[in-house]
Amino acid sequence: MAHRFKVIPLLVLSLPLALVLAHCAQQANAAANPNAAKIERGRMLVIGGACHDCHTPKKFGPKGPEPDMDRMLSGHPADSPALTPYQPAPGSPWVVATTADLTAWSGPWGVSFPANLTPDKVTGLRSGVWTEALFIKALRTGKHMGTSRDILPPMPWNFYGKLSDDDLKAIWAYLGTIKPIHNQVPDPIPPPAPASK
Ligand code: HEC
Repeated sequence: MAHRFKVIPLLVLSLPLALVLAHCAQQANAAANPNAAKIERGRMLVIGGACHDCHTPKKFGPKGPEPDMDRMLSGHPADSPALTPYQPAPGSPWVVATTADLTAWSGPWGVSFPANLTPDKVTGLRSGVWTEALFIKALRTGKHMGTSRDILPPMPWNFYGKLSDDDLKAIWAYLGTIKPIHNQVPDPIPPPAPASK
C-alpha cells in the first residue's frame, strides 16, 4: 500500500514540470522564428484578400481555370499572347473585359496587368526599389510604388489600404517568404486616344 502515497505526489509534481517544459519549448520556437505568427497572418490575409484571383496565373483542367500554385503570385505571365485593348460595342453596358486567367484587365483605363508579388530580386517585390514602407504607401495612396502614377483598376488598393499597419506589414513579410519567380510583367497599355472630331 505504501507505494500509492509515493505515486500521487510524483504525479502532482510532474504536471507543473510538464507545463514548464511546454512553455520553454514554445518560447524556444518563438525565439527560433519570431516572425512565424506574423508570416502566417500575412498568408491568411493574402488568401482572404483574394490576391491569388488576380496575381496568381491559372492552369486549365477539366473543371476550368484554377490557381497554378507553382507560379503563385507571379502576376501576368510575360509569355502570354500580346493583347490589344478591349473595345466594347457603342452603347454596350459591358465596359470591362478580362482574360480567362484574370491576369489582364481591359477597361476605360487601358489594359492593366497584376504585378509580380514574389520576392524575385529583378522582377518582383524585392527588386531593391520596393521597401516595406513603399508597399504600405502604395496601398494607402493608390500611387504606383507610393509615389508615381495612379495604380490602375481593378487593383482594390483603396480597400487593402484600410488594413492596419500590422496587417500590411504581415502581408509584406509573408510575400518575402514565398518562392521567387522571375516574371517581368508588362507595363500597362494606355487607353486608345479619343477619336478626333
Ligand atoms: C481584382 C484584381 C486584383 C486583386 C484581387 C488584387 N490585385 Fe494587386 N494588382 C492588380 C492589378 C491589375 C495591378 C496592376 C495595377 C497597375 O499597373 O497600375 C495590381 C498591382 C498590385 C501591386 C503593385 C502596386 C504598384 O505600386 O504598382 C501590389 C503591391 C499589389 N497589387 C498587391 C496586391 C495584394 C497584396 C493583393 C491582395 C491583398 C492584391 N494585390 C489583390 C489586380 C488585383
